Amino acid sequence: MSKRDDGNWDCGHKSSVITEVSDVDLSIPAKSPPLPHRSEFMQPVSPTARSYDAATIFFHWATAVLVVTQWLGAQTIDWFPRGPLRVDARSVHITFGLLLAALLVARLTWRVTAGRRLPLADAGALNVVSKGTHWGLYALLLAMVLAGMFLTWTRGDSLFNLFSIPAYDPGNHALPDQVQEVHGTIGWIILALAGVHASAALVHRYLWRDGVLGRMLPRG
Ligand code: HEM
Ligand code: HEM
Repeated sequence: MSKRDDGNWDCGHKSSVITEVSDVDLSIPAKSPPLPHRSEFMQPVSPTARSYDAATIFFHWATAVLVVTQWLGAQTIDWFPRGPLRVDARSVHITFGLLLAALLVARLTWRVTAGRRLPLADAGALNVVSKGTHWGLYALLLAMVLAGMFLTWTRGDSLFNLFSIPAYDPGNHALPDQVQEVHGTIGWIILALAGVHASAALVHRYLWRDGVLGRMLPRG
């Protein structure tokens, strides 16, 4: 092995590892661009649109209908005689509840990706109350569907007498009772908050006569 004129060592082989290394660009590569901030996934606020996009409107009203249906439906479960009919009534409640859970996930995903964003409807303290109500409703709905799933799991159930969901702890009746209490209480809070929320939308429409309710209507 001898030293060549270019300063590299020649060991007799055609391609020397040392020569290859000297060809490699060792300069520090330019910093890769940072990942977009979460809000960059969202649509920019539209300054001209008068209403939300069709999917947002569909998600809003489908959620509202399902919440009311779920609450009313739950009150009727015990009207059915014990046995297959009551199991069916409860199964409808559980199935619609799971549908609502899927809808909620789709709605929130749509909201943070492709959903149309509009300028704030209110200003100052009213804006804080309005945003608090909206996020409160989202949080309560998530808590409600999770409590419902937990309730089904703790009490054990049968879906339409076709599939059985084994109870987590069959001898423990206190736990499902407590979870049902929590589930029912959250239901009342959702109804109350949604009532305040709907009233605010009607105040916008009939007292202040602005276009806020129209933003959530199919042809606002
Ligand atoms: C926003 C959606 C929902 C609303 C408004 C709602 C409402 C209610 C209400 C008011 C009750 C009666 C509570 C009581 O008697 O104290 C109830 C019971 C129940 N809920 Fe829900 N629920 C919802 C979602 C779900 C979900 C997602 C599940 C399960 C996947 C579920 C499973 C149940 C079960 C198993 C019961 C007990 C039924 C019985 O008395 O036999 N719920 N629900
Ligand atoms: C259970 C029933 C309801 C629930 C859970 C609910 C939930 C929500 C939520 C979470 C938002 C915020 C949307 C977002 O920014 O992502 C919203 C917006 C809205 N809701 Fe409801 N809602 C219900 C019923 C109603 C009713 C009955 C009305 C009308 C009378 C209504 C009118 C509106 C309007 C106009 C907006 C848009 C407000 C704005 O552009 O700032 N909602 N709703």
